[in-house]
Amino acid sequence: MNELITTIEKLKKEKNAVILAHYYQSGDIQDIADFVGDSLALAQWAAKTEADIIVMCGVHFMGETAKILCPDKKVLVPDLEAGCSLADSCPADKFAAFVSAHPDHTVISYVNTSAAVKAVTDVVVTSTNARQIVESFPADEKIIFGPDRNLGNYINSITGREMMLWDGACHVHEQFSVEKIVGLKKAHPSAEVLAHPECKSTILALADKIGSTAALLKHAINSDKKEFIVATESGILHEMQKQCPEKTFIPAPPNDSTCACNECSFMRLNTMEKLYNCLKDETPEIIVDATVASKAIRPIQRMLDISETLGL
Ligand code: 13P
Ligand code: SF4
Repeated sequence: MNELITTIEKLKKEKNAVILAHYYQSGDIQDIADFVGDSLALAQWAAKTEADIIVMCGVHFMGETAKILCPDKKVLVPDLEAGCSLADSCPADKFAAFVSAHPDHTVISYVNTSAAVKAVTDVVVTSTNARQIVESFPADEKIIFGPDRNLGNYINSITGREMMLWDGACHVHEQFSVEKIVGLKKAHPSAEVLAHPECKSTILALADKIGSTAALLKHAINSDKKEFIVATESGILHEMQKQCPEKTFIPAPPNDSTCACNECSFMRLNTMEKLYNCLKDETPEIIVDATVASKAIRPIQRMLDISETLGL
């Protein structure tokens, strides 16, 4: 493994490449990355990097977002099959038909979508900025929010909006067990529950902190509590444990205790070997259709501009 790390570091320098990794990647990939972050931070980093090659250790939509922001750079993803069940729950043709059927609605899409969905969107959001971006519109604005029904319901509940929701969801965040989290809370009465807003409302009702991966990490660092039950993809525990070695992080269990369902099977397709091969061969590369990209850049840039104004 040490040899692999040294070779990746060497290739990275030779090729002026940068490795960006999401918190749901395996620990070894997070450790070798130049930057680890949530979806918003990864897009912000991609937009400002001076590297010639971006290796996006995450899923396909994250690579697409980087490519749309940096059309002149080579954007690589170690495994091109690293998709997203939430993005897949929103086929572009069906979403476009839904949008066309409601021409008086503003379209807000979660970043976990294909470039083609973003192309029919007015503004993109991530879990870090969704609330603020929704609230930046007048209270009576008619809004379509897609594709995550759980995040949409959560934003509706905290803002009092009645956004029309696309009926999509993430297979990882939908499977946490209320009963098992309640059981863990009994066994660890002082533990705080941290939950990602892609979880169902029954899980969010148990949470002490709801937020993006970056927000949950920040909360864990700043909290005076010593134990945490974490209801999101378990890769985030790597950085939590690294930042807070004296604290205990317990991954929230899925309904089916025989599976590793709190790991995102798409995210985990990326491995150190594939990262090495993709840097060496400069493939697989993310390609986005130019017409789609020219439309998708607008809602992405709008999100980045609003986020900058908000200091996010
Ligand atoms: P974050 O933007 O909170 O990192 O979430 C990304 C994601 O895919 C959640 O499942
Ligand atoms: Fe998509 Fe869910 Fe995996 Fe996040 S955890 S990348 S939303 S499938």
